Amino acid sequence: MSNVFEDLENNWENLSSVSIFKDKEPLDHRYLPEKLVHREDQIRQIARYWVDVLSDVTPSNVTLYGKTGTGKTAASKFAREQLLEIANKKKVFVRVEHIRCTDYTTEYQVIAEICNRLGRTVPNRGWTKAEVVNTFRDTFRLRNTYGKKLQLIVILDEIDILLDKDGDGILYTLTRTDNVSVLCISNYLDFKNLIKSRVKSSLNDKEIVFPPYGANQLSDILSERAELSFQDDVLDDDVIPLCSAMAAKEEGDARYALDLLKSAGEIAFDEESKKVTSEHVRKAKDTIEHNKVIEIISTLPLQQQRVLEAILNLTKQGEEISSGKLYDEYKEISKKDAVTYRRIFDFINELELLGIISTNTISRGRGKGRTNIIKLQCDETLLETTLYTI
Ligand SMILES: Nc1ncnc2c1ncn2[C@@H]1O[C@H](COP(=O)(O)OP(=O)(O)O)[C@@H](O)[C@H]1O
Ligand SMILES: [Mg+2]
Repeated sequence: MSNVFEDLENNWENLSSVSIFKDKEPLDHRYLPEKLVHREDQIRQIARYWVDVLSDVTPSNVTLYGKTGTGKTAASKFAREQLLEIANKKKVFVRVEHIRCTDYTTEYQVIAEICNRLGRTVPNRGWTKAEVVNTFRDTFRLRNTYGKKLQLIVILDEIDILLDKDGDGILYTLTRTDNVSVLCISNYLDFKNLIKSRVKSSLNDKEIVFPPYGANQLSDILSERAELSFQDDVLDDDVIPLCSAMAAKEEGDARYALDLLKSAGEIAFDEESKKVTSEHVRKAKDTIEHNKVIEIISTLPLQQQRVLEAILNLTKQGEEISSGKLYDEYKEISKKDAVTYRRIFDFINELELLGIISTNTISRGRGKGRTNIIKLQCDETLLETTLYTI
C-alpha cells in the first residue's frame, strides 16, 4: 500500500489547481485584515485616548460596546498593532496585552497571565491573590534601559463573563495600579450593573459604541475578504449581497456573514462546483443553524436537556404544552432528582432566550387565569437525534 498521507497530499495539490479557494485563512474570524472598513471612526477614537501613552502618560480607560460581530475585537487589535508600531519607533516602553475573558475567567488567572507575559513567573494556582497582585505591581517599579517605567494597556475582551463569574475585583486592582490603563470590551450595554460604584468611579471610562453593520457595509467587508480567499470570478454576483442581507438581519454580525461565505464556498467545493451560487449560500445557512442548535443542546445542563426531552415528547403526542403539563412530563423523566416547579420556569426562560422554544401567554377566559403555552422552535428530528446521541 502506498502512503495514505502522501496520496492525500498529492491529491490536494492536484485539486488546488482547480479549487475555488485561493486561501481560506482570510475567511476565518481570527484573521486580522489589513484595513477595517467602516470602523475608521472607532479606531480613531481609541487612538485619541491611547495617544497619551506616547508622551508617557497613562491613557484614560476605554470601553467598547456593541453586539457580537460588530468588529470590537478586530478594532482593538488593529489599534494595538498601530500603537506598537509607532511606540517601537519612538522607543516608548509600552505593552498592550489582549486577554480573552472566555479563557481567563478570574482575577487571579488574568493577573497571573499578564505577569507571565511580562516575564514574571507566577503559578496558575497556589499563591494568594495578594501575592499575585504584589508581583504584578512590582513590575512597574522597573525602568528600562532608557530610564522609562513600563506603561501597560490591558484589553479585557468579553469582560461580562469575568465580571459575572468573579466580580469586579479585577477592575479594582487594575484601575488602582499606576501606569495601567484598561480597555473593556462588552457585548452588553448594561454591563456596568455588574460593577460596584466605587469601582465605577475609579474606572471613569470613555465609551465607544460599535453599531451593527448594515447590508452594504457587510458587502464591503465580505468583498475585501473574498478577493483574498477565492479565485477570480468563482462567486456568482448575488452571493455576497445575499450573505450580507442575511447577516444584516442577524443584527449586523460580520462574523456570521463571513461564516456564511466560507461555508457556502466549502459546500460548493464538496459538490465539485466551479462556482459558488446563492443556492450554496442557502444551504450554508441551514448548515450553520443546524450546527448551532446541536451545539446549544449538547452543552445544556442535564436538567435542561430533560425539560427539552419533555417538550419533545409532548410535541410528538400533539399536545398543547402548558407549564403544568410540562412539569408533569419532566417529573416522569427525571424521577427522583427532579428540580422544583419554580426552577423549571427559569429553564423555560433560558431556552426561549436561546431561541429553541417560544412561549405565549393565553387567557383561559374570565376567572380561569392565564396559561403559558410552550412551542418548540427548532426541528423535531434534529432535536431528537441530538438529545439521544449526547
Ligand atoms: N470593519 C471590518 N472590516 C473587516 N473585517 C471585519 C470588520 N468588522 C469585523 N470584521 C471581521 O468580522 C469578524 C468578527 O469581528 P470581531 O471583531 O470578532 O467582532 P466582535 O468582537 O465585535 O464580536 C472578524 O473576523 C473580523 O475580522
Ligand atoms: Mg470579540
